[in-house]
Amino acid sequence: MCGITGYIGYRDAYPIIIKGLQRLEYRGYDSAGVVLYDGKNINLSKTKGKVSDLQEKASQEISIEGKIGFGHTRWATHGVPNHVNSHPHLSQSSNLVIVHNGIIENYDTLKQELVLRGYTFHSDTDTEVLINLIEEIKIQEKCKLGKAVQLALQQVVGAYAILVFDKEKPNELVIAKLGSPIAIGIGKENSEFFIASDATPFIEYTKNAIYLEDSEMAIVKIDREIRIHKINDDSLVEDLRIQELQLNLEQIEKGGYEHFMLKEIHEQPNAITDTYRGRLLANKGVIKMGGLDDNIERFLNAKRIIIVACGTSWHAGLVAEYLFEDIARIPVEVEYGSEFRYRNPIITENDVVIAISQSGETADTLAAVKLAKSKGAFVFGVCNVVGSSIAREVHAGAYTHAGPEIGVASTKAFTTQITILALMALKLGKIKGNIAAPVYQTYLQELIQIPDKVAQLLEEDAHIKKIASIYKDVPNFLYLGRGYNFPVALEGALKLKEISYIHAEGYPAAEMKHGPIALIDKNMPVVVIATRKGHYKKVVSNIQEIKSRHGQLIAIVTKGDIVVRDLADHIIEVPETLEAFTPLLTTIPLQLLSYHIAVMRECNVDQPRNLAKSVTVE
Ligand code: AGP
Ligand code: GLU
Repeated sequence: MCGITGYIGYRDAYPIIIKGLQRLEYRGYDSAGVVLYDGKNINLSKTKGKVSDLQEKASQEISIEGKIGFGHTRWATHGVPNHVNSHPHLSQSSNLVIVHNGIIENYDTLKQELVLRGYTFHSDTDTEVLINLIEEIKIQEKCKLGKAVQLALQQVVGAYAILVFDKEKPNELVIAKLGSPIAIGIGKENSEFFIASDATPFIEYTKNAIYLEDSEMAIVKIDREIRIHKINDDSLVEDLRIQELQLNLEQIEKGGYEHFMLKEIHEQPNAITDTYRGRLLANKGVIKMGGLDDNIERFLNAKRIIIVACGTSWHAGLVAEYLFEDIARIPVEVEYGSEFRYRNPIITENDVVIAISQSGETADTLAAVKLAKSKGAFVFGVCNVVGSSIAREVHAGAYTHAGPEIGVASTKAFTTQITILALMALKLGKIKGNIAAPVYQTYLQELIQIPDKVAQLLEEDAHIKKIASIYKDVPNFLYLGRGYNFPVALEGALKLKEISYIHAEGYPAAEMKHGPIALIDKNMPVVVIATRKGHYKKVVSNIQEIKSRHGQLIAIVTKGDIVVRDLADHIIEVPETLEAFTPLLTTIPLQLLSYHIAVMRECNVDQPRNLAKSVTVE
């Protein structure tokens, strides 16, 4: 799961590649590399570390001339992050060079065969095996690069997006994909081609792009030619599927904020509005969602809904379980993609599977989608990235329209996913007659108030920052919530641990007495979500239990609360809303709390260690 970007055309490739890699760094950032062809030589530079380290090294180490080249920012799967394992990788003859995103699962067998044929390997990567396999086939078959890549990939088991260059065919780049994403940006009249894991590296140059499909490869040439064909046979893809990108440059820059995460937290009022724009016609009492409306019978006849997702998206799935069961009265199961796909689940044609994924590229969620489809279930996607693999794979879906989320810690994706899922639950609940018209109307009217309420909450930033400064050095945190706010407790804990490296656990508040209560002493901060609507009295009892054991209490309460105020060490007030919508508000202070703690601990907020934005490996 890394970032790939490349260029072939009439401009200097190096600055385009470096800037592109910086934009893709969210996908992986343990090492980086670049290769350029200056008309004579292949010039390659790589290093452990960030793209900024590469930039420094490359400008000293190689000639950065050339109108053709590519780069890579790595998230290691095979071999530690170091110089040798970084991409690009050269073939034995040094004539071929590759960058790769994904995993070659049968690399070991292929490697052994190549060793017998006299190949020596310098790195521990699966990628170096692939480039040598391509070279070996090219020699044995006496064929051109494109054919050699195709034949090599026919032997490969695994997932990949690759870019390959051959010094003997210096006017072209070969691109191929299975499982990992890759887009090709097309300059005016094919005068140049940009290749990248997503469209952000080339957005200022062209709005026209092709997303390669699985098992497709493309050859782009300096003489304005682009050809796409299948990997498994020679058939040409006639329709190039050129799309016009909706993305703009502003959306992918920090816009004055110190970090993308902070920018994205602050974007939530607009992002939520964008999610329901055109879908929620509150005054008319109408919810319009193309993907749902066109398949409404599948949902109404569903015996149950199975939600598959990972990480924060899985937490949004848990909130959806409450929404669908509470409002639409449809039984729901929520599964981690990674568990679902490997545990021989019972899936029938009467099931509706909802896959939730910000990136739309998460390998485990994608595999769960494919499995559910193969068993005949109807699969609906809730994705943010338009044209992503999951979005393309599902039968129907709804985009969250949150705009690009670049910070590795998911924020606006979570609240916009909940918004979409709430709209779906409300629409289904209404049609099924489970909610009375006035109640339904109250929900709709309240939903359009949520962006303003989120904006009010964002004004609490300085207060939350102060609380963060008190607890920034603690080793552990506990997060508790009940009902709709239990998933928020999980999400709050995940946010804190992933960006500040403080150990944190989320629990249903009542479960505390079955174990975690043993952890509570005067040094243990406990964040409790205790909003007025939603098991308030029960949560207050849990709070008493914490105070009796001298825990430090940070409570998220409804504005005007006086009971918890007296018990808690700190309170953060959220505006009043319907219980079902409380997660949309209670999440915000938890995002800010973890953000400020991480900044104070001098952690890399946007690119936490060991993580990547799109987890395209299983
Ligand atoms: C969230 O902060 C995480 N970085 C992570 O858990 C993420 O939500 C997960 O990897 C799923 O990603 P997706 O929504 O793109 O599928
Ligand atoms: N499997 C390759 C490696 O470990 C590529 C990983 C990636 O996608 O970054 O180097």
